[in-house]
Amino acid sequence: MIKRLFIADTHGYYPDLSAFPNHEIVLMGDMMEHGSVAVYAQFEKWLCRLSQKKIHFVRGNHDSGQYGNLYNPNSIIMWDNLAKVFVGHTFKYPWAEAGKNDLLILLDSVCKTHSPHDFAQGLIGREQQTETLRMIGLYEAKQAPKHERVTICLHHDPFNSDTTLLLKDAGEFIANVAGLVNYVFYGHTHIDTVVDAHRCIDGTHFFACPAVQEPGAKTWEQVIYDNGNVEVNLMKV
Ligand SMILES: [Fe+2]
Repeated sequence: MIKRLFIADTHGYYPDLSAFPNHEIVLMGDMMEHGSVAVYAQFEKWLCRLSQKKIHFVRGNHDSGQYGNLYNPNSIIMWDNLAKVFVGHTFKYPWAEAGKNDLLILLDSVCKTHSPHDFAQGLIGREQQTETLRMIGLYEAKQAPKHERVTICLHHDPFNSDTTLLLKDAGEFIANVAGLVNYVFYGHTHIDTVVDAHRCIDGTHFFACPAVQEPGAKTWEQVIYDNGNVEVNLMKV
């Protein structure tokens, strides 16, 4: 059984996860307000205190900007370096982890722009989308019978109607993954409950992850994979 806890949009709040020692932690991005050196040092301290064996890193726009809203390549480097330390290998998106009957793919949807107007927008990019499809194809080729669990995680919302928050290539992404993968999780929207934001397209389930920015106020999303059954629910914190 795999239990995953999805932590999204904390924006500098670093929660106590000691009640979930056996969960995998999926950091869904925007774990800080801006990606300066000092803030990354705080983030690293929190990561070092976590006892969970598996931590997954999904980059957000705020993790990738310095001093406010502007994209900063140094922040990208700091994120990738931390991810490398915790996953144990050179880290590059799309990141894929194949477990027993389970493939987890992490995407980078940060729009690498220097325009403050599209800072909060997202972009996966053609190259990353192509590589993702290749990874799924390779994984499926090894499965007999066909597996039933491919999960994709990204920070940006493929359905957001607000153009300032838009995932620019959402149409291509949805067309690529709908009917092919089982689950897509995303953050960025700061919703309160995942249940309201569930969509199913051609058998692919899309879930938005609630933002967690203070203790006790909101809930975290938990996903339990157990012998082919998948359960998505909320954990009170
Ligand atoms: Fe965001």
